[in-house]
Amino acid sequence: MSDRVAFVTGAARGLGEAIAAACLADGMRVALADVDPAVEATARRLDPSGARAAAWSLDVRDDAAFAAVFDAALRRFGRLDAMVNNAAILGPASPWTTSLDDWDAVMAVNLRGTFVGCRIAGAHLRDAGGGRIVNLSSYAGQHASRASGIAYAASKAGIGAVTRGFAMELAPYGVTVNAVAPSAIEGPQWAAVDAARRDALLATVPVGRAGRADEVAQTVLWLVSAAAGYMTGQVVDVDGGRGMR
Ligand SMILES: NC(=O)c1ccc[n+]([C@@H]2O[C@H](COP(=O)([O-])OP(=O)(O)OC[C@H]3O[C@@H](n4cnc5c(N)ncnc54)[C@H](O)[C@@H]3O)[C@@H](O)[C@H]2O)c1
Repeated sequence: MSDRVAFVTGAARGLGEAIAAACLADGMRVALADVDPAVEATARRLDPSGARAAAWSLDVRDDAAFAAVFDAALRRFGRLDAMVNNAAILGPASPWTTSLDDWDAVMAVNLRGTFVGCRIAGAHLRDAGGGRIVNLSSYAGQHASRASGIAYAASKAGIGAVTRGFAMELAPYGVTVNAVAPSAIEGPQWAAVDAARRDALLATVPVGRAGRADEVAQTVLWLVSAAAGYMTGQVVDVDGGRGMR
């Protein structure tokens, strides 16, 4: 996939960083965007030369800034082939302590941010003759799950609808749109969960362990590849079998 370019949101750390790293290891170039200025250091760590990875500060809630950063990345690399809408935040676990401001904040980043990212990248890829969009959903968006709260779960379920909606729109133009739904992946979010809750959750994972960020990243990488051209509008579970049915 050399020469191709991916744009990854929420790329400062965690799965976004792992996805950017996997794209780079596969020969792609990567635009990393994140509201956290640490994204600059992440890009330098992944590509000390600065030739194949570049970072932008971006709050995906700001649609004008999103379009401007997308254009800047396009100018910097000369092309963009894949968009990975990965940025997200968690909400309060309990519905009784979820304020309406909490609800709006989760929706603004996770659901509206993904919609805006799909629309900006989708219009470009449609006019450029094809490409790939991958959105990060979650087990919580597909199944009942107390841990991450109703707002987060609803936003991630909504991402399934956004994915299918853009997949229908863009299928005639060679643009595929899919989502990946991870569960219990090692990283900053997982580390923040207390040990007793982690153990209880692991007991529900058939493979008996937490997933690794690179296992999610490799799934995203495959969906971005030419080999995945006949697959669109799907939500792919990467969850150790937790949600199998
Ligand atoms: N880690 C898991 O077990 C797991 C499970 C299911 C789904 N997911 C999904 O995978 C994705 C990555 O998860 P993670 O564990 O790496 O999370 P994380 O919290 O470690 O990373 C999320 C990144 O998004 C960035 N971000 C937050 N708000 C933003 C905004 N407004 N604009 C731009 N960037 C913003 C953060 O700064 C951070 O770098 C998320 O969509 C998450 O919902 C993760």
